[in-house]
Amino acid sequence: MKAEIILNHDYIIGEPDGMLFGSFVEHIGRSVYTGIYEPDHYSADEYGFRGDVAQLVRGLGISGIRYPGGNFVSGYNWENGVGPRVTRPKTIDVAWNCIEPNLVGTDDFVGYCRRIGAEPIMAVNLGTAGMKEAAEFLEYCNVRGGTAYSDRRIKNGYREPHGIKYWCLGNEMDAQWQIGHKTGGEYARLAVETAKLMKKIDPDISLIACGSSGDDLRTFPEWEAQVLAECYERVDYISLHHYFSNADGDTATFLASGIAADSHIEQVISVCDYIKSRRRSKKTMMLAFDEYNVWYHDRDKKKGNLQIAPPLCEDHYNITDAVCLGGVLISLLRHCDRVKIACLAQLVNVIAPIITVPGGMAYRQTIYYPFEAVSRFGRGAVLDIRIKSDLCDGGKYGAIPAVDSVSVLNGDGDAVVFAVNRDTGNPVSLCIALQGIDASVISHTALYGENREAINSPENPDRVLPVPVGGCRIDGKEAFAVLPPLSWNVIKLGN
Ligand code: AHR
Repeated sequence: MKAEIILNHDYIIGEPDGMLFGSFVEHIGRSVYTGIYEPDHYSADEYGFRGDVAQLVRGLGISGIRYPGGNFVSGYNWENGVGPRVTRPKTIDVAWNCIEPNLVGTDDFVGYCRRIGAEPIMAVNLGTAGMKEAAEFLEYCNVRGGTAYSDRRIKNGYREPHGIKYWCLGNEMDAQWQIGHKTGGEYARLAVETAKLMKKIDPDISLIACGSSGDDLRTFPEWEAQVLAECYERVDYISLHHYFSNADGDTATFLASGIAADSHIEQVISVCDYIKSRRRSKKTMMLAFDEYNVWYHDRDKKKGNLQIAPPLCEDHYNITDAVCLGGVLISLLRHCDRVKIACLAQLVNVIAPIITVPGGMAYRQTIYYPFEAVSRFGRGAVLDIRIKSDLCDGGKYGAIPAVDSVSVLNGDGDAVVFAVNRDTGNPVSLCIALQGIDASVISHTALYGENREAINSPENPDRVLPVPVGGCRIDGKEAFAVLPPLSWNVIKLGN
């Protein structure tokens, strides 16, 4: 099979916002406890956070972390998670039917973010709480001092304000399963009034309104239209969430998930732009894709049986999952002119690129590698490339191009091509036409393997790794590489 890509130095979609490379830590399962936080662990820092995990998180170049949920936030009282740990109560987490010990809360989490170099993306509870609690929470975090809540933060040992820039106005409020679920009209009113209040307290914050929790919900995209009709001038982003599943074994459709991501993003953009023109607004609404990932292996075991940090939603990702995620990451980069924030959901243990053994090791799952590559090499000018590819089976999408790809130019003029080969049976000979790009050196790594079900595990943490692929070459103004069947590829072109 064959494919051709044209890279032209002058045709640029945009530069990804740093916040495109974000992730998500929710109080669910072992995401926090025995995930990022385990004070008895041999690698724990003075704050009780695991050093081995922090190192793997840094390796991902995570730019922002959404917190504390997720469904969890819609029943969360942030006040239970601040102050001396001995005074913090154990509470019921109704969203996941767990006991929340509140040993990690806002101050602890923000400290962790600052140490690993990620921006906190804080969500407020618009389920059981409302605008009053959101305002008090913001006052606690961002007001310098001299008010009840800011002084409480200072008393708790945090003299400097946390300076949290990104705030989510609730989580998935469209969803029936959400605590305090609302209709579009109800949420729109609450969100706009909360936004007004929060921006009065701190005009420098950026606000993310809840879009739909999936494009398959009956209320999509009317929900977006209702919310934006009220909130358009008051918020900075509208969120979208999408989880990709291979539960039914329709791997061809699953591997075409990049098409599903493109479609979801473009539908949300259409609604934003419709409301923009209806309002005669000068402002262009940006998107926060603040939950995306592959999720199906452990999707049914969602309830925690009133335990503290039971294992929940611990998907163990194989090679096919990593290629699927690679396709979604390509879609995100391709839409970097409108998708400004994105969060891989989640970061540790719960549908995550990193898995920990309590008291033991931490290791990278297969999906770690495509995210790491895009986060490391995807920061630059995303090129508007042209792709011509032989077709493969795309399941419910019919025949689709076997290769999907995106390319990024970095400051030195080096180019990186990210590509997936979605054909499970055949390699693809790729020709890359270089227009205005000087390159004399090429390297190619790929994540692939004979056994597509292969996963990493504590016993064999490096079973699946990206490996160098031979045979790539440059010939004048063209570069050549062979993409293995069912593979995630990173091709670097430079001098
Ligand atoms: O990421 C897991 C859950 O998926 C989140 O809590 C929720 O927002 C979504 O439904």
